[in-house]
Amino acid sequence: MTELVLENVGKTFGGVVASENVNIRVPAGRITGLIGPNGAGKTTIVNMITGMLALSSGRITFGDTDLTTMMPHRIAEAGLARTFQNIRLLKDASILENVMIGFHMAERSTLLSALFRLPGAAKETRDTRAAAMALLDRFGMTHLRDHPAGSLSYGHQRRVEMMRALAADPQLLLLDEPVAGMNEAESAELARIFRELTDEGRAILLIEHDMRFVTDLCHHVYVLDGGKVISEGRPADVLADPVVVTAYLGESIDAA
Ligand SMILES: Nc1ncnc2c1ncn2[C@@H]1O[C@H](COP(=O)(O)OP(=O)(O)OP(=O)(O)O)[C@@H](O)[C@H]1O
Ligand SMILES: [Mg+2]
Repeated sequence: MTELVLENVGKTFGGVVASENVNIRVPAGRITGLIGPNGAGKTTIVNMITGMLALSSGRITFGDTDLTTMMPHRIAEAGLARTFQNIRLLKDASILENVMIGFHMAERSTLLSALFRLPGAAKETRDTRAAAMALLDRFGMTHLRDHPAGSLSYGHQRRVEMMRALAADPQLLLLDEPVAGMNEAESAELARIFRELTDEGRAILLIEHDMRFVTDLCHHVYVLDGGKVISEGRPADVLADPVVVTAYLGESIDAA
């Protein structure tokens, strides 16, 4: 099965070392956690995996595909999709439209065939709509499909972002703090969906500050601090690791 592998990945911004010798594996069918205090370098890792930031050193592969120097759209074509820590939606467009944008990646017809309204493209638009509706149903948001994305609660906007990422039918989903700002019921519902997604064989890399959420969901966790992996293993073991406890000193760590 396809596995994402980061080997000795490094990133410096001027004098700031944001990543140093990072080795991470994200296997299919599993939820892998990436945690660490504020500024530890978590988002930087996701930005490098998705091609938004160039690596300063190291290598990233997904199965047989070398992603290290690939452009973001090629990395998306290779089966990777992400959500952002700061939600990025078209606020005036409807929820359905925001989700349908995500299908752009999965469309088989070329832009040219779409322009000439060839039958294949017309069918794909209907299929796309149906598939987007199926995603809305899965996330319990069918009744909100015509609402402008900007009018939704924070938790609902996060879900729209997730649906848009899933529209491309990715093999690997990178989630940067997906339940931030959600209440207990909302995050429990998402936990159920994340489990389903990995049961279908997808891989998830989950960045999250809520330690209980991480402990409940993740098979394996990496802890970053100062750009380095300082601990890895099963959630319970990692959270009991003195190195991790020290790294979180001064921050509230809810290791329930
Ligand atoms: N584009 C950039 N230019 C310069 N420095 C950056 C840039 N992006 C990140 N950094 C720095 O790299 C370090 C890691 O930042 P990053 O955003 O990856 O941390 P994080 O673990 O995601 O933090 P948080 O939990 O607050 O989201 C920080 O010191 C940050 O200031
Ligand atoms: Mg971040």
